[in-house]
Amino acid sequence: MKARQIPVELVSLFQALLTLEFIIQTELTTLQLKTLLPKTLFFPFSHVTLSILDQVVQLEKVIKNWFHIKELGAVMLTREEALNLVKKNVAKRNFVYHMLAVEAIMKSLAKHFGEDEHLWGLTGLLHDIDYGKTEATPEKHAMLAEEILNEFALPQEVIKAIKAHNFQYTHVKPETRMEKALIACDAVSGLLVACALVMPSKKLKDVKVETVIKKLKAKDFARGVERERILFCEEIGIPRKKFFEITLDGLKNISSEIGL
Ligand SMILES: [Fe+2]
Repeated sequence: MKARQIPVELVSLFQALLTLEFIIQTELTTLQLKTLLPKTLFFPFSHVTLSILDQVVQLEKVIKNWFHIKELGAVMLTREEALNLVKKNVAKRNFVYHMLAVEAIMKSLAKHFGEDEHLWGLTGLLHDIDYGKTEATPEKHAMLAEEILNEFALPQEVIKAIKAHNFQYTHVKPETRMEKALIACDAVSGLLVACALVMPSKKLKDVKVETVIKKLKAKDFARGVERERILFCEEIGIPRKKFFEITLDGLKNISSEIGL
């Protein structure tokens, strides 16, 4: 059988694309680039175990992301793309509902602070993207998410917030407002949904802030909800009552989408 050779042009293309990937990942300055380019042109393949076709696919993504960065600034994914990614990775409907809930809550909190609603919403929507595969292995939760999301060149603040929301295992300390907000929003979403489900109507519209405050104190209610995580809201300057007002409003905006 005749051996198949990889065309020289294809090899050059790979090298150029890997350089591009390297540039994106390391965020080099123009001056640093000038110094490093001759070396990085021969940067070794990082995907040697993949077939040639898979390498082309990977590198095509890098190129697309590069142009996306140029066009849109740092945010790579549209909301629609992010939701499709969630649905692709998460099979259980309730998990998808949970991520939609955290997205809505994060957006309402971003609005309250005058922060970037798209960025905060995206972080909420994507935060448990690996949960279908890491439910039984909490030490991998958020680490696998990073692997999945790194393909899309999202702003590092999104990735870091996702890792920090599982800080007990990732040891990434929550520091910024968005990182602490994600922890509080993730936890409060469970409490708000549980409050809705004990209403005679089982609808969010009937849940009052007072109900949520009462249920927060009732330790036997929704035991899986970690109260101390909800109280991260106070670390970012929002008293719990105000936090419940904002988050309840945010969740009510999408109540029909999540069957509540
Ligand atoms: Fe979550």
